[in-house]
Amino acid sequence: MEIGAKINRIKSCSSTNDIAKEMALSGEEEGTVVISDEQTKGRGMKGRKWYSARKKGIYLSVILRPPHFNISLLPLIAGLAVTDAVFDSIGLRIKLRWPNDLIWGKKKLGGILCEGGFLGDRINYAILGIGLNVNHGRGDFPEEIRHEATSLKLISKEDMDENIVLQNLWPALNHWYSRFLQDEKDKIACHFQENSILPLGKEITLVTESGEVSGIYRGIHSQGSLILESRGKRKSFFSAEIKTMKK
Ligand code: BTN
Repeated sequence: MEIGAKINRIKSCSSTNDIAKEMALSGEEEGTVVISDEQTKGRGMKGRKWYSARKKGIYLSVILRPPHFNISLLPLIAGLAVTDAVFDSIGLRIKLRWPNDLIWGKKKLGGILCEGGFLGDRINYAILGIGLNVNHGRGDFPEEIRHEATSLKLISKEDMDENIVLQNLWPALNHWYSRFLQDEKDKIACHFQENSILPLGKEITLVTESGEVSGIYRGIHSQGSLILESRGKRKSFFSAEIKTMKK
């Protein structure tokens, strides 16, 4: 089934990822979407909160049943789909910050949270959670993130119809997911780099589970990892955050 062909719209929930996970475990088919007007326990990466003010943003999760393990590419294709959908909706080219941030200028416009469930050595489902700030005014963000968050309304100075963005998001997600299914790994990594806020060759610091590591950014690997060159050696990072970028 195509992504977006079946949409489960709800008024409120803890997290659309949790609802989608329950549905996936009960056998719901690939492509089904859960969208909520608000989330009371929206989640971001690294256990952070995702503030989900009622009817201000898009909070949705897509159930996928990818046939192979390479789910590290899923947040990347979701990011690419959102950049296309935003461009088709309001003509703005937003940027991506590996692995899961949607960026405008230096501010965060949204994020992706991809969570997988396994059955033995096989992937049973993947939940692709997408959060996009649409009609937030400054005061709709909690104070602690106000300086670093933005919304489509704050950028365009106009109220946005989230349905227009959603109508553009379904074909974009289907397009990028079909490229993922066709194993176009290199092309996905290359498109991600083209839309990335991070230019090749930049000196960066990554925060990893085992501490900070600095080096030269050498791009995105076709498996979805970030390649960093440090002391002449290239290393791939699947789970890290970009902390600083030298000018
Ligand atoms: C991040 O940038 O840290 C990821 C944010 C992901 C937020 C979305 S909103 C819909 C889905 N449900 C959640 O609880 N999180 C994701």
